[in-house]
Amino acid sequence: MERFLFASWRARLRDRIVGNRVLEVGVGTGKNTPYYPQEVKVTAIDLSPRMMERAQRNALILGQEVDFWEMDVQHLAFPDQVFDTVFATFVFCSVPDPVSGLRELRRVCKPGGTLLLLEHIRPKNFILGFLFDLLNPIVVRMMGANINRRTLDNIRMAGWRIQVEERLSSDIVCWIEANP
Ligand SMILES: C[S@@+](CC[C@H](N)C(=O)[O-])C[C@H]1O[C@@H](n2cnc3c(N)ncnc32)[C@H](O)[C@@H]1O
Repeated sequence: MERFLFASWRARLRDRIVGNRVLEVGVGTGKNTPYYPQEVKVTAIDLSPRMMERAQRNALILGQEVDFWEMDVQHLAFPDQVFDTVFATFVFCSVPDPVSGLRELRRVCKPGGTLLLLEHIRPKNFILGFLFDLLNPIVVRMMGANINRRTLDNIRMAGWRIQVEERLSSDIVCWIEANP
C-alpha cells in the first residue's frame, strides 16, 4: 500500500508546499521527508519522541534539515501566523479533538497560507459510511485511529475554506487543500 499507493499521493507535497516556513504535523517516522522541497526549512512535530527519532535518522540520510519538536497539534507552542504551508498525512484520524487541532493550524498559518491534508475519512456512500460507523469502535481499540471522521466538516468548522477536495482510493482517502 505504502509503495504502490501512498507514495504517489505523498509525492504531491513536492509541488504543493509553498513558502519558506513550513509545518508538518504528526511527522511519524518521516515518510514525507523525501517529498519536502529541498530549499524549504521544515518544522516537524509529533506526540511520539520514538517515532521522531526514526524521522530524524531519515532526514539525516536524505540530507534534509528539519527542526523537530515534541508537540500536540491541539496545543501548538508557535506564535500566530508564522507558517506559509501547514500539512499532515494520515494524522487527523487519531487526534482526539480534530477541530481544535485544525483551529490551531489555522492560527499559526499566515493569512495567505495553505493547509494540505491527506486523510482517511468517512466514505460518502451511505452503506459504506454506515459500515464504517459500525466498525469504528473496534478499529479504534485495535489501532487507535478512527475510520469514520467527517474531516471535511471539521476543516470548515475550524474556519478553513476548502479549495480542493479529491477523493482517492474508492472514497476512503481524501486529498484536501484549504486556505485560512
Ligand atoms: C498514522 S501516523 C502517520 C505518520 C505520518 N504522517 C505518515 O503519513 O506516515 C499518525 C501520527 O500522528 C501522530 N499524532 C497523533 N496525534 C497527534 C497529536 N495530537 N499531535 C501531534 N501528533 C499526533 C502520531 O504520533 C503518529 O506519528
